[in-house]
Amino acid sequence: MRPTLVLLQSQCLLCVLVGVSGPGVVASLPHTLPWHVSCPVRCMCQIKPWFSPDSVYHEAPTVDCNDLLLTRLPLPIPPNTHTLRLQSNLLSRLDTVVLHGLDNLTDLDLSQNRFSRVETITQSSPLSSLLSLHLEENHLSQLPAASFSSFPALQELFLSHNNLHVIAPGAFTGLDSLLRLHINNNRLITVDPRWFRPLPLLEVLMLGGNPVEALPERGFLALKSLRSLVLGGMGLRGLAEKALEGLDGLESLSFYNNLLTKVPTQALMRVPGLKFLDLNKNRLKLIETGAFRDMVHLNELGLNNMEELVSIEIAALENLPELTKLEITNNPRLSYIHPQAFIQLPRLESLMLNSNSLSALHQHIMLSLPSLQEVSLHSNPLRCDCLFHWAAEEASRPRSEDARTPRMVRFIQPQATLCSEPPELRARRVREVSSREMSASCLPMIPTSSLPSYVGVREGGKLILHCRALADPQPEVYWVTPSGLRLGPAPSHAAKVLPAPAPCHSLHSSSVSPSQPRDDAPCNPSKLYRLLPEGTLEMNTVTSSDAGLYTCVAENALGADTHSVTVGVHSRENKKKRGMRSNKKGYKLFSNDAGFEVREVGQHYAILSWLSGQNLPSTRLSWQAIYSNAHTPTYSTRILAGTQSFNLTHLQAETFHRACLHSGTGEEATRVTKRSGDSRTPQCVSFRTKDVPVPRPSLLLSPELTSTAVTLLLLAIILLLLAGQGWDNEQGAHHSTVLQKIKSPKSPIIIVNQKTGGTLAEAK
Ligand SMILES: *[C@@H]1O[C@H](CO)[C@@H](O)[C@H](O)[C@H]1NC(C)=O
Ligand SMILES: *[C@@H]1O[C@H](CO)[C@@H](O)[C@H](O)[C@H]1NC(C)=O
Repeated sequence: MRPTLVLLQSQCLLCVLVGVSGPGVVASLPHTLPWHVSCPVRCMCQIKPWFSPDSVYHEAPTVDCNDLLLTRLPLPIPPNTHTLRLQSNLLSRLDTVVLHGLDNLTDLDLSQNRFSRVETITQSSPLSSLLSLHLEENHLSQLPAASFSSFPALQELFLSHNNLHVIAPGAFTGLDSLLRLHINNNRLITVDPRWFRPLPLLEVLMLGGNPVEALPERGFLALKSLRSLVLGGMGLRGLAEKALEGLDGLESLSFYNNLLTKVPTQALMRVPGLKFLDLNKNRLKLIETGAFRDMVHLNELGLNNMEELVSIEIAALENLPELTKLEITNNPRLSYIHPQAFIQLPRLESLMLNSNSLSALHQHIMLSLPSLQEVSLHSNPLRCDCLFHWAAEEASRPRSEDARTPRMVRFIQPQATLCSEPPELRARRVREVSSREMSASCLPMIPTSSLPSYVGVREGGKLILHCRALADPQPEVYWVTPSGLRLGPAPSHAAKVLPAPAPCHSLHSSSVSPSQPRDDAPCNPSKLYRLLPEGTLEMNTVTSSDAGLYTCVAENALGADTHSVTVGVHSRENKKKRGMRSNKKGYKLFSNDAGFEVREVGQHYAILSWLSGQNLPSTRLSWQAIYSNAHTPTYSTRILAGTQSFNLTHLQAETFHRACLHSGTGEEATRVTKRSGDSRTPQCVSFRTKDVPVPRPSLLLSPELTSTAVTLLLLAIILLLLAGQGWDNEQGAHHSTVLQKIKSPKSPIIIVNQKTGGTLAEAK
């Protein structure tokens, strides 16, 4: 029996992986036979099937005294007893005399009893035939040196679910034949390499469920025969490069339910024989490029149940010639798999991607997997548009026995693989939508699940924001910082990959009136922003002045989508500074007293409003367009005391804008702002001006149509479709809202978050 990842999703993973050399097929077991012997009262004596740890079948004379509330060993135990079962009793010591003479005792089950000292068991006369000793769920807290030396033949030792917190370096001395050791679910806080030195034949080691935060380097060096290592539920945050060194025979490795934030690539390179790897339920955010590169024997990989996983990057899995099954499921924020995420996986047959936040699976992925037979995509918010043409095309192709026809990839649960977008195809089965019904190109969409609306960072810490968008044509992704810097590839033409750190682009142009205060325009070249190719913004050494609204924009020729994230900076000193609001957790937030919001948006204007009382004489409003031209000017105006709203006019239509309200405290406010935190952070909102009404679409399509005209036409069609949909269903209501007010759970921060689709809907 070999381990499988089939059950990886369940809690039972650990037991499955342990089945490496366990008993074989249950179905073909021979029947129990009667055993005519004088049996201890209330026990059952029978000849039962028994498999040795190396899977050899025995007909074993078995005395079964489970669940009898025994406090002493029952009498008389027949001398040729092979298996003695004493599970679930109240034993706290073993009577040496009783066990004396049980020369053939092979399997002794003392699990679920009250043993607190291992000496009370091992001081019995040597049991030289004993192969299996079960001591799970007792009260053992320590293992002294040579604890089990009276059982020299022992092959399996089960010590899980005790209170072990001290294991002497030589505790397992004398167990030269041990194949399997379970010390999971105890209270060990370190792993001592000396424990394993006497165990050269050990094949299975279960260490999980101990509060070990870090494994030592070369800790398993002695375990040359180890095939399966289970490190689940330990609180591991990372893995030393040499943590797994020496595990030359390791085939199966589980890190289920730890706190790993990165794939431990360096450590995994030391176990080239690995076939089964389980990283389920960790804190991985990204599967980075090269994370699993060249694991030439890897057969099955599990990346399930990760709350924070958002993206599988380009070439994340590369050159895995034996990988046949890949499971990436139940990751609620996983919204992006790079079209070239999987490279050289010639044998991948099964790709499980259900229950994520994926809107699509790019056609490149399907084309790059020559052996793929089945894919599971159900329970994802799938967009049945251009990105899914491949699925429709495959479905419409007639099945054929001819080997030369393109292969059919089977959808697992096709009846549950439904479109969620666009509205007119919602709830249709993906496989039943024809490619004619799917649009030929698609607008960028930033999945809301990938980015939170609020992120708190410690002062001096690192800010990392991941923004991803799939579209066709491939969108360009850039960020706009609170101070108006546009971080991203140069618009339209230039190179796609921006060298990091990004050059400092300021949106402020020198043409802005000199009277304009520059407190929101510190284009500080020493500030290290990094924009990674797929849209990740990184900033080292965050200061309180970095707090504010960060907006990600994904744009292609058809349109754009934005998503804004409020970044709060957790101040290092707990001192409250004047003018700085802190919530209970000490995060510096925008002062939200003013309730700054967007009231109304038109094609060329937007009405902003706020509460009175905050606009001191120096209150100022600034705004700028966020569009593909990096150097749009920032405009600024003073706000008369007492006013509560302002109509921004002469705006460009169909353009993202950002406006900030600076509630100053006096003429010196500008200068003060530049010093750390001693100012009011401006409050900002983003919005998109409405689209220009589309002229009645002429149906005379000419090849000279400009891309703009195509866009407008497309928009018009979408509008017509939307108009026909009605707004009473949930999704429609969501998209008809141009301005969504997202409140942070802590404090009513106002973020205006607009969806391209929503804007379209309003323009009807
Ligand atoms: C132990 O098993 C062997 C072989 O099965 C048998 O010959 C021997 O009598 C058994 N010993 C006892 C004490 O029953
Ligand atoms: C705001 O300005 C625009 C453009 O000048 C105008 O059409 C609109 O009516 C104004 N709205 C209000 C409420 O004044």
